[in-house]
Amino acid sequence: MTKPTVRRVAVGGAKGCPVLDGYDPLDQDTVDDPSEWMATARSEAPVFYVPDHDEWVVTRYADCERILMDPKTFSSKDTIAIQPPPPEVAGDLPNGFALQTNVGNMDPPEHVRLRQIIQPAFARKQALLKADQIRALTNRTLDGFIDRGRADLLLEYCQPIPVRVMSSILGIPEAEAPQFYAWAVELVQLFGNPMIEHNEYVRLARGQIEFEKRVRTLIDERRKNPGDDNDFITNLLNAKSEGGEPRLSEREIVGTVTGAIFAGSDTSASALGLILHGLLEDRRLWEELLEDRELVEVAIEEGLRVRNPARAPRRTAMRDVEIGGVVIPKGSAVRVHLWSADHDESVFPNPERFAPHRPNAREHITFGRGPHFCPGANLARVEIRAGVETLLDRLPSLRLVAGHKLRAAPNKIVPALIDGLVVEWDERG
Ligand code: HEM
Repeated sequence: MTKPTVRRVAVGGAKGCPVLDGYDPLDQDTVDDPSEWMATARSEAPVFYVPDHDEWVVTRYADCERILMDPKTFSSKDTIAIQPPPPEVAGDLPNGFALQTNVGNMDPPEHVRLRQIIQPAFARKQALLKADQIRALTNRTLDGFIDRGRADLLLEYCQPIPVRVMSSILGIPEAEAPQFYAWAVELVQLFGNPMIEHNEYVRLARGQIEFEKRVRTLIDERRKNPGDDNDFITNLLNAKSEGGEPRLSEREIVGTVTGAIFAGSDTSASALGLILHGLLEDRRLWEELLEDRELVEVAIEEGLRVRNPARAPRRTAMRDVEIGGVVIPKGSAVRVHLWSADHDESVFPNPERFAPHRPNAREHITFGRGPHFCPGANLARVEIRAGVETLLDRLPSLRLVAGHKLRAAPNKIVPALIDGLVVEWDERG
């Protein structure tokens, strides 16, 4: 790739706005590895405009952090479910997609109210309570193919685990987990790739109607047969005001449940896949972990940084605002490029290196910052740790099979990993 060049253009009334010539966030090579584009941006145009997508990209750590901590200036309202349902299905979705009524799409005070209600269901204690169950699940998943000596770890291990965990949290029968995974992937595609063709958009929207219907039946089942204190949906249904009124509407519950499946499936699956790939690509890292298990925890933090599975959540500028020396006009779409922030050399020297001893690995911004900080971060950590440790325990000889390039689906929010993790191991592990 030739080094990206920076050009200056007029945007609205403002002149001299930086543009990275040829940058396309959905180009396959850029999706697979944005490092060159982002390194140029951080050094020469830390905030730049993308004409074809009519949005601004913010690439430095400090600027990204500042935006996430300032919801008044940078709003999250209507930043996930951006496009309305297509006319072909609009009759079935008169109020739009349920995901539009989700914490990720809201500003204070609605955001604070909803977040307070759902927070306990996501708390650290909940994640730790699940640790043994998750470990049993990773072992059971591995049992399914351990005798084969070779597997596509992405399809057979990384993808099924998080959605099975979410299924158990939400009381979804495990046999239905693959269907829920498919809906989650479609949802990410529906909202993270505005360039999909119209027919595909209609197909995905039809799938969401089925998804929302199934979630409504789950909620009805839990209304008739409430679960215990740890049951996610029961807790949402039981949240009552002082006067005994439900604090969440049916639509808010549907939006929260679909949102949890959307946010908790492909992110964790891709994170686990990317981290395993990183550890096996430079096998000395894998061997280091085999020798010193105490390193695993921080190696996972470093893996979350260097192989950040998410990309760039969106905000809307609520006023003309200067950031990184550029004035972003009021009403503009702003992409907070968390992947780039995690590779900012001023915070993480030699940023492309997977360095498990990195002293500040935990400072990554992979789970965001501020009011929208990921409530599933602890659960994701427990899942990834169980996924990595089960393989260290049972398949120490694990290695990559050559000839499979790591590839992800073009997407501006979470480019889900789709290929590149074919592995083999010796019969005795
Ligand atoms: C490695 C895996 C994960 C990554 C990298 C990740 C990343 C993120 C990020 C960056 C945000 C903030 C987005 C923003 O500021 O707009 C976020 C929000 C969120 N995440 Fe995660 N996440 C992961 C796993 C999970 C899991 C397992 C769950 C559910 C159990 C989850 C549920 C959510 C929800 C509900 C929000 C919205 C919170 C809000 O807007 O207040 N995430 N996640």
